[in-house]
Amino acid sequence: MKLFLDTADIDEIRTVNSWGVLDGVTTNPTLFGKVKGMTYEEVLQEICGINGGPVSAEVVADDVEGMLREGRHYAKLADNIVVKVPMSENGLAAMSRFKAEGIKTNCTLIFTANQGLLAAKAGASLLSPFVGRVDDINEDGMQVIRELAEIIRFFEYDSEVLTASVRHPRHVTEAALNGSHIATLPFKVFQQMVHHPLTDKGIVQFKRDWEAARAALNDGAKEASPKREPAKVG
Ligand code: E4P
Repeated sequence: MKLFLDTADIDEIRTVNSWGVLDGVTTNPTLFGKVKGMTYEEVLQEICGINGGPVSAEVVADDVEGMLREGRHYAKLADNIVVKVPMSENGLAAMSRFKAEGIKTNCTLIFTANQGLLAAKAGASLLSPFVGRVDDINEDGMQVIRELAEIIRFFEYDSEVLTASVRHPRHVTEAALNGSHIATLPFKVFQQMVHHPLTDKGIVQFKRDWEAARAALNDGAKEASPKREPAKVG
């Protein structure tokens, strides 16, 4: 399963990239709004220079021509840019045009398997159901992942299911078990996946025991060394 980082924060991307587990990055206008002092283009180029996986750049136009104009512009910034297009009638039209032009797309704001099916037929490379936002309205976000992943595999569509709007590590495990090809995670969830209280406790204990063992060895060596005779050969 591939893991993407859901952020536009360069430091967070550098950190997870250094762990050797990062397969791509997703951004959106809200995440870009948290970055200070850089244009969206500058942010995207910097991210693409750090990680060679797909980097999603989201369009905000409502009309097809506007989506195409923005998407073509972002696609020129780097080879690994994927244009993120919202699910809508115009979005579907834009995604099928991007497909014909060889520009990869990530269909965002998917909330049902049917929306994902339409995006796959329009030629989107990535299908992004928002599990957290579905859970927020007291429905089952993982059901969308389960249904869509099964449809994509059954009909062998050339699209990947990207579980988005991830809120906690359990979403990642469930997305994997339900056949999602990718999950995009906030930085905090990546950190939560690394840590476990027993792991952290165990690291402290092993270090303490190691230092105690070394100290005992040194003390023993100091006591023994004045009396030690060279070993006789033969
Ligand atoms: C990623 O592609 C989505 O834009 C993102 O996961 C949405 O997450 P949110 O529901 O936490 O805003």
